Amino acid sequence: MSVTISLKNAESFFSKTVYEQMSKKALESYRKLINKTGIGSEYTGWVNLPNELKDKELDAIKVTADEIKSMSSVLVVVGIGGSYLGARAALEFLKPVLCGRCKQDVEVLFAGNNLSSDYLSELLNNIKDKDFSINVISKSGTTTESAVAFRIFKNLLYKKYGEEEGRKRIVVTTDEKNGPLTKFAEKSGYRRFFIPSSVGGRYSVLSAVGLLPMAVSGIDIREVVKGAKDALGALHIEDIRNNAAILYAIARNSLYYSGKTTEIFGSFEPHTIFFAEWWKQLFGESEGKEYGGIFPASVTLTADLHSMGQYIQEGKRNIFETLVEIAAPENEMIIPFEKDDFDGLNYLAESKLSYINLQAMQAVSIAHLDGGVPIIKLSMPRADEYHFGYLVYFFEFACGISGYMQDVNPFNQPGVEDYKINMFALLGKKGYEEKANELKNRFY
Ligand code: PA5
Repeated sequence: MSVTISLKNAESFFSKTVYEQMSKKALESYRKLINKTGIGSEYTGWVNLPNELKDKELDAIKVTADEIKSMSSVLVVVGIGGSYLGARAALEFLKPVLCGRCKQDVEVLFAGNNLSSDYLSELLNNIKDKDFSINVISKSGTTTESAVAFRIFKNLLYKKYGEEEGRKRIVVTTDEKNGPLTKFAEKSGYRRFFIPSSVGGRYSVLSAVGLLPMAVSGIDIREVVKGAKDALGALHIEDIRNNAAILYAIARNSLYYSGKTTEIFGSFEPHTIFFAEWWKQLFGESEGKEYGGIFPASVTLTADLHSMGQYIQEGKRNIFETLVEIAAPENEMIIPFEKDDFDGLNYLAESKLSYINLQAMQAVSIAHLDGGVPIIKLSMPRADEYHFGYLVYFFEFACGISGYMQDVNPFNQPGVEDYKINMFALLGKKGYEEKANELKNRFY
């Protein structure tokens, strides 16, 4: 197994009875997910997606990526939420691998994930003298943030290259059947990739949504898919003790129903920061419903020991940690010897930095445990493409099970719509007049 789980530092925080109840619930939830009998099952197309990705589709992504690389030094990926975080997580997570290969592929920059004019101005300024292409990603095709950014970058592109050449530099990734972007892309002659209708945003990283930006930046997407496929094979088994995803779902829910309502994703590798962002969206949007759900937070260590460490050690005792341990770095560093030993560090001279990092992890784990913070440990051997794909599928699958264990629909996000409706009303979009009237006296 490529991701293993240890509950050694968690199991004393819940009773055997709770664990048994959760195990029963987990098995029922697992069956619902696999057999597509649970609520929201029309959005579980991601469950078998790694096995359904055909060579033809991967080839098409690779061909488009190569075309983008041949004409651009920058790819602007426009998208938000599930249409953004997976690709960003992959690019950051796999930086050490790409760095180790000394690969200099196209730079991928992200837009459409906020409404800041300063952010966009800076990005425009950064790329204006470079050759660039755009990949706009939106399943619905109606999200304001991405629509605004796409309009701005499309205008710049057409201005710079003219309409005919500009058109060749735009790739649209959107729902296979619905939405304005599908029609507009067809009318404009843009290249298109489709997100299966049965795959929701935060479960879509293993489709063209994540795979195209990854391929452009030099990531081996076949390895990513292989990792996900192997995870699917390893996790589609009913044997609880040997299914790390089911065990993870059982453990986090056992802790949740024992009063630990906040889960902190922790890693000792800063290149996982955006993976944690993706993870937070995955679990937050899937479980945060009906005024319940585990609150997902994250820390990067050891940096956050010097900011969040105090709270974790001695703050409110409603937290547990999920530590993701990556056993070996892609690029090792050795501590140099200093003749004068001016910093008193010679006791570590010639040590591997990964060894020191590991000791930090042990030290932190013991301290947090002593402070009353249970720790679920997930371990993986390396942070390469294969293990990225594996880990993504692992968390998606565990999240589906865990959401069902909490009796919610893990595949919708009704709460996200509330702000969108308010925003349309405040901005005067046609069809939202009644809402606008209702909100009139509620400005800050
Ligand atoms: O997980 C989800 O479904 C959401 O986070 C969406 O990905 C996000 O709201 C962006 O939507 P769209 O891809 O339709 O622009």
